[in-house]
Amino acid sequence: MSDATAKKEERRKFQAIKGTRDILPPETELWNRVEQTAREVFAAYGFGEIRIPDFELARLFEHSIGDETDVITKELYSWIDSPRANQALRRVRAKAIANAYRAIHDDQAVREELFKQAEAGALDTLARANRISLRPEATASVCRAYIEHRMQSLPQPVKLYYMGPMFRREQPQKGRYRQFYQIGAEVLGGTDAPGIDAEVIEMLMTFFDKCGLQGATLYINSIGHNADNCRRGYVAKLKAALGRVKDKLGPDSQRRIDSNPLRVLDSKLESEQAVIATLPHIADHLCDECKAHYAEVKRQLQVRGVLYQENWRLVRGLDYYMRTTFEITAPGLGSQNAVCGGGRYDGLVELLGGPPTKGIGFAIGEDRLILSLQESGKGQVPQGRDIYIAWMGEKAHATAIRAAKDLRKAGFSVELPPLEQKLGKALGQADKLGAKYALILGDNEVSEGLWTLKTLSTGEQTKFTASDLLEFLRQQKNVSS
Ligand code: HAM
Repeated sequence: MSDATAKKEERRKFQAIKGTRDILPPETELWNRVEQTAREVFAAYGFGEIRIPDFELARLFEHSIGDETDVITKELYSWIDSPRANQALRRVRAKAIANAYRAIHDDQAVREELFKQAEAGALDTLARANRISLRPEATASVCRAYIEHRMQSLPQPVKLYYMGPMFRREQPQKGRYRQFYQIGAEVLGGTDAPGIDAEVIEMLMTFFDKCGLQGATLYINSIGHNADNCRRGYVAKLKAALGRVKDKLGPDSQRRIDSNPLRVLDSKLESEQAVIATLPHIADHLCDECKAHYAEVKRQLQVRGVLYQENWRLVRGLDYYMRTTFEITAPGLGSQNAVCGGGRYDGLVELLGGPPTKGIGFAIGEDRLILSLQESGKGQVPQGRDIYIAWMGEKAHATAIRAAKDLRKAGFSVELPPLEQKLGKALGQADKLGAKYALILGDNEVSEGLWTLKTLSTGEQTKFTASDLLEFLRQQKNVSS
């Protein structure tokens, strides 16, 4: 391999890790606009921002999201955090191994088995105690923060929103990443009045509308609560029904019949759809309270003019949900078309050691929202500089530096080239950068005190004094905004 090829290979090694990506300008402008819209809409509904850590104890996520879910069993990024814990782990392991050797001297097979068990046991105990995970979602952390900061003593409900990266070790594809971004909101405490569910959903749809998202569809469902006369009873019936059609299902769904039968309803496999359509519906098995709650959520959505479709198969992939669940899909996303998921999770704060607390919330997949906006042509953001300063000559340079500072202070975006250029080249550069105006400053302009402003779209040139120029640009900005 030649030196040049080796260097090229070396350079190629440094690429963003699979499932992660760089988001570059001008696309970042669109991200900022979406985030700013969320801040404005959420504030109008009385939400305040919470910033939570990017990593937490693994147990927090395992406990809330559920040990059998894909997020926990397959997708969590975890590690043992402290060097001391790692050292202690090695010590415990060595001791266990020594004990195993001491216990049995002769029988090789028994010795190996003991050895294995001791090692696994030591690893398990210590690793579990000190394991940290990158957050795969934020609801668990928000509940942890609610308890930790005794937010139950604040006026209820507490309304919080967040935005930032989440991490799941999924198979990357369009709209599915290992580091992705969510914008979410949670309402904690107070009552579980259906008006809260309806208002949260109304806020969400208002946000999508303000972003310019077209063709979004809201799906809702109620999965009741965990009691024999409600979801537990339904799950038993579902399990029995699934048992009867087991051989018509694929291996994943067959496994889920025992571990998590509700998740079979999530299946997207074409071959399973006809079978799933014959399964019992949860709506027919809700207890009276859950049924009434669901009916009132739907009525209040109608009062608010929020359009929805019911989807009896919408059970969501995380264990903490109860009663209202919802999802929003958007066009242009292929198979990963859910731009938002959410629902009610009344028992979660209590499960994590806090007081009995009601909870409901959602998380928007920001990457997918941006993709959908771009696909529908709604992702355009104003680009380019306002003014490019074409300066020529030493005296003009000093004036250009001062002019750039004043114009930037007045709120204009200004490009000041660091090196002198010929006028033709400077104007070409201004064009490439999408500037609206070129401010031409040569020695003549500086000594006359009259600066030339060229409108690049029309080629029109006008002379201004410094103060008239600022006034003119201000007026133009007001006209166009
Ligand atoms: P989730 O359905 O797991 O719910 O995620 C919410 C949204 O995040 C999805 O609808 C999708 O748009 C986006 N998303 C999830 N995984 C990925 C990925 N790998 N790549 C790109 N986007 C992704 C939750 O996370 C719950 N914590 C929502 C919630 C809040 N429920 C109550 N409060």
